[in-house]
Amino acid sequence: MDRLLRDGAFEGETHIVTGAAQGIGHAVARTLAHHGAVVAMVDLDPGRLAEAADGIAAEGAPKPIVAATNVTDEAAVQSTVASVLEASGCINGVVNVAGITKDARITKKSYDDFKAVMAVHLHGTFLFTREVAAQHWHPLFKANGNQPLDDGVNRFIVNFSSVSARNGNIGQIDYTAAKGAIESATKTTAREFSGYRVRVNAIAPGPVNTPMLAAVGEDGIKAMGRATLVGRIAEPEDMAATVAAIADPRLFGYTTGQIFAANGGMYLD
Ligand SMILES: NC(=O)c1ccc[n+]([C@@H]2O[C@H](COP(=O)([O-])OP(=O)(O)OC[C@H]3O[C@@H](n4cnc5c(N)ncnc54)[C@H](O)[C@@H]3O)[C@@H](O)[C@H]2O)c1
Repeated sequence: MDRLLRDGAFEGETHIVTGAAQGIGHAVARTLAHHGAVVAMVDLDPGRLAEAADGIAAEGAPKPIVAATNVTDEAAVQSTVASVLEASGCINGVVNVAGITKDARITKKSYDDFKAVMAVHLHGTFLFTREVAAQHWHPLFKANGNQPLDDGVNRFIVNFSSVSARNGNIGQIDYTAAKGAIESATKTTAREFSGYRVRVNAIAPGPVNTPMLAAVGEDGIKAMGRATLVGRIAEPEDMAATVAAIADPRLFGYTTGQIFAANGGMYLD
């Protein structure tokens, strides 16, 4: 892999990545695996997941675990976390990437579409966050006499927001509201999980070259690239490298509760 930050940074660790069958989630899973992690790849379709995981293993990275799980299905998320824990004994990190869009202006937006978008982004992020903590990190904390887990083990959550959480985007009342909520939830989670010594951060990308952006078309993508200060839209690997950096305690071990604006300078807070 050409974008290795620190060889073996996550050896012996297990990370869960949602939305991992394509786009940013796939690049994140691949990058974390190439840094030594066993990655549990979560997405909807078992066939696409198996293909993606086989590809990562064929490159010489640890073979990922796959889970065909809808992130909005509470029982499925609970059993996915339980089986990852059973297989690996430990979950070090969660990267909540899964997402959908159903763009329409407010007057044309159906309530079902609004709820579906909120559910995948916000509820999915909540469910994986709660389950890993409830099944794993909180029991460790209790077993430690309710004392902070200063055991030197790397623990992190990286959530996915978007530049549009702060800037707004026509047609995306559901998506932008979910992303704004994810930013707030990231801060609350960082506060609640400090005793578990889990660093909780979010990335707010600008446009990234994935199937989610396909509807924009080539001219639209070029125009978006011109709107950045670096002169191009991001590739999924740009986001994956940012996740790997945040996940690495040697690089961002002192950073929690933050939103990383990975938008090429398209929007300056
Ligand atoms: N692409 C961009 O320009 C961009 C910009 C800002 C933020 N983001 C965010 O980055 C994340 C990834 O986006 P992407 O561009 O890679 O999208 P994508 O559409 O290429 O991939 C999303 C993946 O999530 C999976 N998924 C959808 N619903 C799911 C569910 N209910 N359960 C499990 N998996 C589900 C899909 O099957 C797909 O594999 C999203 O949260 C998105 O909002 C993307």
